[in-house]
Amino acid sequence: MKALSQKRRHPLAAVALLLMGLLITGGLYAVATTVNQAKADTTSFSASDAEEGGKLFAANCATCHGMGASGSQAGPSLVGVGAAAVDFQVGTGRMPMQMNGPQAYKKPAQFNEEQTHQLAAYVASLGPGPSIPEAGVLDEKGDAAKGGELFRTNCAMCHNAAAAGGALTKGKFAPALADVSGKHIYEAMVTGPQNMPVFSDANVSPEGKRDIITFLKQIESNGSPGGNDLGALGPVSEGLFVWIAGLGVIIAFTIWLTSRTS
Ligand code: HEC
Ligand code: HEC
Repeated sequence: MKALSQKRRHPLAAVALLLMGLLITGGLYAVATTVNQAKADTTSFSASDAEEGGKLFAANCATCHGMGASGSQAGPSLVGVGAAAVDFQVGTGRMPMQMNGPQAYKKPAQFNEEQTHQLAAYVASLGPGPSIPEAGVLDEKGDAAKGGELFRTNCAMCHNAAAAGGALTKGKFAPALADVSGKHIYEAMVTGPQNMPVFSDANVSPEGKRDIITFLKQIESNGSPGGNDLGALGPVSEGLFVWIAGLGVIIAFTIWLTSRTS
C-alpha cells in the first residue's frame, strides 16, 4: 500500500494528469465545434462578410433590434432567425422598417446584393437558423400539379387559390405572390414572416417547396387564359360583374327600345 501511494505521488504524475486533462478538454472542444459548424449555415460566408455585416447592422438595424441583435422594445431579437430571414426581409425591402404599423411593408430594397449578403452573414454568425436556399430547389422544374395541390391545402386560405392575396384580421394582409422571386418564396416558407406560419421541412419537404414555386411561377406566366380574371376572387366578383354589366345592358336596351316607339 505504502509503495503504491508513493508511486502515485510521483512528481511526474501531476504533469501527466494535467496533460491528460488538457487533451480531453481539447478533444471535446474540437468535437463540439465541428458539431456546431455542421448545424450552422451551409452557405459559405467568410469572416469578413460577417464583420462588414456587423458594421452595417450597427448603423442601420441596431436602433430597433439592439446591439448584437439581442432585441429591444422596437424590434425582436434576431439571434437564430438565420440568413434566410435577413435575405428575405432586406431583399424584399421590408427591413429596415420605417414606421410602426400592423405590418412591415414591401419597399424597394435599400441595400444591394453584397450588403444584403453581409447582413445575412452577420446574423447567421449569431446562431444557427434557416439558410439561404440552394439553386437546386429554385430551378422551377418541379411538379406544378403537386405544387398546386400543396398550395391549395397550405397557402390558399390566406393568399387566395390564384395567389392573388387576401385580407387578414387587424389591418394585416397576405400579399399577392406574382413577381416574387423563387428564392424569396422559399425563404418566406422557411422563416414565416410576421403572420405567416413557418413551413418546416417536416410540414412541406424541400421537394414540395420546389413544386410550390414551380406552380406559382407557372400561373404567373400563364396569366388568365379565360379572359379578365376580375381579381381572381371567384364567384362573388363574377356574379357582381354579371349584375352590374349584364343588368346595365338590359336597362340600356329597354331605354333604347322605348325611345324608338315614342
Ligand atoms: C424601425 C425599427 C426597425 C428597423 C430599423 C429594423 N427592423 Fe427588423 N424588425 C422590426 C420589427 C418591429 C420586426 C418584427 C416584425 C413583425 O414580426 O411584425 C422586425 C423583424 C425583422 C426580421 C424578421 C425576424 C424573424 O423572426 O423572422 C429580420 C430578419 C429583421 N427584422 C432584420 C432587420 C435588419 C437586417 C435591419 C437593418 C437593415 C432591420 N431589421 C431594421 C423593426 C425594425
Ligand atoms: C396564416 C396565413 C398565411 C398562410 C397559411 C401562408 N401565408 Fe404567406 N404570407 C402571409 C402574410 C401575412 C404575409 C406577409 C408578411 C409580411 O409582409 O412580412 C405572407 C407573405 C408571403 C410571401 C412574401 C410575399 C412578398 O410579397 O414578398 C410569400 C412568398 C408567401 N407568403 C408564400 C406563402 C406560401 C408558399 C404559403 C404556403 C406554403 C404561405 N405563404 C402560407 C400569410 C400566410
